[in-house]
Amino acid sequence: MVKRKLCEPLENRKGSLYFDGFSVEELAQKYDTPLYVLSEKRIRENYNRLYDALAGKYKDVRIYYACKANTNLTVLKILQLEGAYLDAVSPGEVFMGLSSGFAPERILFTGTSVRSDELKFLVDAGVTINIDSQSELDRLFKIAVPSTISIRVNPEIGDGHHDHCITAGPQVKFGLCEEDVLKAYAVAKKARVERFGIHMHIGSGILNINSYIQAVEKLLGIAKRVHDELDITFDFIDIGGGFGVSYHPDDDDLNLSEFVSKIVSLFKAKVKEYKLGKPFLCVEPGRYIICDASILLTTVNTVKLTPYRKFIGVDAGFNTLARPAMYGSYHHILAANKLNSKSNETFDVVGPLCESGDVLAKDRKLPLIVEGDVLAVLNAGAYGFSMSSQYNSRPRAAEVMICQGKPVLVREREQFQDLLLSQRVALQGE
Ligand code: LLP
Repeated sequence: MVKRKLCEPLENRKGSLYFDGFSVEELAQKYDTPLYVLSEKRIRENYNRLYDALAGKYKDVRIYYACKANTNLTVLKILQLEGAYLDAVSPGEVFMGLSSGFAPERILFTGTSVRSDELKFLVDAGVTINIDSQSELDRLFKIAVPSTISIRVNPEIGDGHHDHCITAGPQVKFGLCEEDVLKAYAVAKKARVERFGIHMHIGSGILNINSYIQAVEKLLGIAKRVHDELDITFDFIDIGGGFGVSYHPDDDDLNLSEFVSKIVSLFKAKVKEYKLGKPFLCVEPGRYIICDASILLTTVNTVKLTPYRKFIGVDAGFNTLARPAMYGSYHHILAANKLNSKSNETFDVVGPLCESGDVLAKDRKLPLIVEGDVLAVLNAGAYGFSMSSQYNSRPRAAEVMICQGKPVLVREREQFQDLLLSQRVALQGE
């Protein structure tokens, strides 16, 4: 296991925090806060580290970036240029992928509870559809019979950092269980689908290699049955995403080389044993690619000492970063200009929303904080902006990317006018 300290793209220069070579205080001053800051360099590094680890062990590998983690257009463009494929879970994500230059053949749609008009959109767009239910398959075939179909398997083994993020197992809505998988492929074969894939995604934020290995084994066992019983050969086998990232400085990172080596060895051995041909090995990471490639900057508005607690009130709440409120997730927080000060104080870092659950960090050890300080919330790239909202009628944050060596505003801060978009006032003429 590998320990993570303050490491790239973060840097401590004489007590001040730098991100990808730039002072975060200066960025906060120039672009205002709350502000997501992203690193092009880190996105490329994360992608290539994973690609090299996989391709070093198995040549025919594809990385589908799970863009639900972050659909910023520049992020998508960078990954498209790196040669990534795209995992999209909604027509909107397909639209974002196409808009950023992904060819439709490189997009795999894995939706759930999909509408028929959405299926029509996907067929017209020419993306590959990964089926989540028999109903979806039947409705798709009424619209068209695509040349390629993939089925999402529920391998009945799930894992993840929180119950909400476990996406396989008996209680979970996703995918088809073994016998239903066989029925669905039989229907697809009868409808004269020509090429096939098979897919699973067991959850998100997985640091436990064993559950992943068991699920891969189960998936490949099901692939064997489909192959043997229906004479179907797979062009690709997609084992999903979910590779965990450590959020706490004392936690261990995922040991990538051990993880990859165990998964790929198993994959190769089973594909050979089951005579599954030469399928592409596909993975679908979101968090691994983008999580540590972005931080959230927020300014301290108030320091409030009550008889019971010490609150730091900042300008980012769960409208800006939902994960702590939604999953109780830990995000490490640094005071941008106090990296060399001792963290002797215990604070609750709270946002500006009118809810008591608007907490970014509870009982957090920090240096003495004063109003005007800039705090950096780490590991904010995955499911940060993409889950943000306008709750309490607060316009969404801006995004700046350190791109080709300089900061570029890649998403403007929303203004009050944006709160009015799409609204129509009834009662006209009153
Ligand atoms: N593939 C599929 C079909 C997925 O549903 C997901 C995530 C992924 C891939 C990518 O998972 P990742 O590699 O990013 O873990 N909002 C939660 C995470 C929910 C993930 C949902 N599906 C969070 O903030 O932790």
